[in-house]
Amino acid sequence: MVNMMAQKSDQTESEQHFFDFAAEAGLTKHFGGLEATEELVELCNIGEGSYVLDVGCGVGQTPCFLVKKYGCRVVGVDINERMIERSRERAGKEGVADSAEFRVADAQDLPFEDDTFDAVITESVTAFPEDKQKAVREYTRVTKPGGYVGLNEATWLKMPPPPEIVAWASQDLGAQVKPLTSDGWAGLLEGAGLTHIVVNVREVRARREAKELIHRYGYGGMLRSLYRALSLYARNPVYRRFVKRVRKEGITPDNLEEYLGYGVFVGRKWLGGASSGI
Ligand SMILES: C[S@@+](CC[C@H](N)C(=O)[O-])C[C@H]1O[C@@H](n2cnc3c(N)ncnc32)[C@H](O)[C@@H]1O
Repeated sequence: MVNMMAQKSDQTESEQHFFDFAAEAGLTKHFGGLEATEELVELCNIGEGSYVLDVGCGVGQTPCFLVKKYGCRVVGVDINERMIERSRERAGKEGVADSAEFRVADAQDLPFEDDTFDAVITESVTAFPEDKQKAVREYTRVTKPGGYVGLNEATWLKMPPPPEIVAWASQDLGAQVKPLTSDGWAGLLEGAGLTHIVVNVREVRARREAKELIHRYGYGGMLRSLYRALSLYARNPVYRRFVKRVRKEGITPDNLEEYLGYGVFVGRKWLGGASSGI
C-alpha cells in the first residue's frame, strides 16, 4: 500500500510520487532493455559466482535475471521502500530469493564495506541523485580492486538540448532525470579513480523501447501493472493530481530522440589498493 512517506534524500515530492507510482504498478525500466543489461554484464566481466550490486534496482528485474542467467549472487538496493518490497516478491516468485537480497539505500550513501562487490551496476538511476560524483565514488568504494563499475544512463547526444526537452526530462515527466553528456558520465568515472573507461552511446528508439517493455513483463504483467496503476489512481487523490499534472505538462517533444539517448559507461577499479586514486 502506498503511503505519503516523508521526502527521502534529495528527491522532490513529485519524484517520490513518480517512483511510488511505478513501484505500486510493479513496473520499472531502463533504456536499451535486456540488450543493454547484457552489454553491462559483458563489459563488467560478470559471470558465474560474481557478487554484484545493482543500485536502484527498481522492481528487481535485473537482479533476478543475473541470478537465473549467470548464476551470480546479487544485492539490489533502492531508495524506495515499495520497490524493495516488489523486488523481494519477484525474487520469491522466481525462486531466486537465496541468491538475491534487497535493501533500502541511497546511491549516495551505500551501507556496505569497502571492496565488497565484483561489480556495481546502475540502470537509469544515476541520472537522478543530485550529487552524481558522490554516488559514483560510493559505487567505486564498495567495488573490489580489479572489479568494475558500470552505468547505463540517460545521455545528451547533442548540446545544447532545447529548453522544452530539458524541461520534459527534468520536470514534466514527474521525475527529475538529469542527463549528462557522454564526457560528463565518463568524467564521473574518472573522477572516482576508475580506469580503462569504456563508453558506448546509443540513440533511443521509442518503438523498440515499447517492444522491450512487453518482452520484459509480458502482456499479462503489463495488464496487471495497468490495473494496479488505475486502482491507485482511483483511490488516491494525491496520485490523481500527480498523473493529471504529468499528462498535462509531460507531452513528449517531437525531436526528443535527436537529443536524448543513453550510454553504457564502464570503468575498472585500480588493482593496487582499496581507496587509491579515489
Ligand atoms: C527508472 S527506475 C530504474 C529501475 C531499474 N534499474 C530498472 O532498470 O528497472 C529508477 C530507480 O532508481 C531509484 N532511485 C532514484 N534515486 C535513487 C537514489 N538516490 N538511490 C537509490 N535508488 C534511487 C528509483 O526509486 C527507481 O527504482
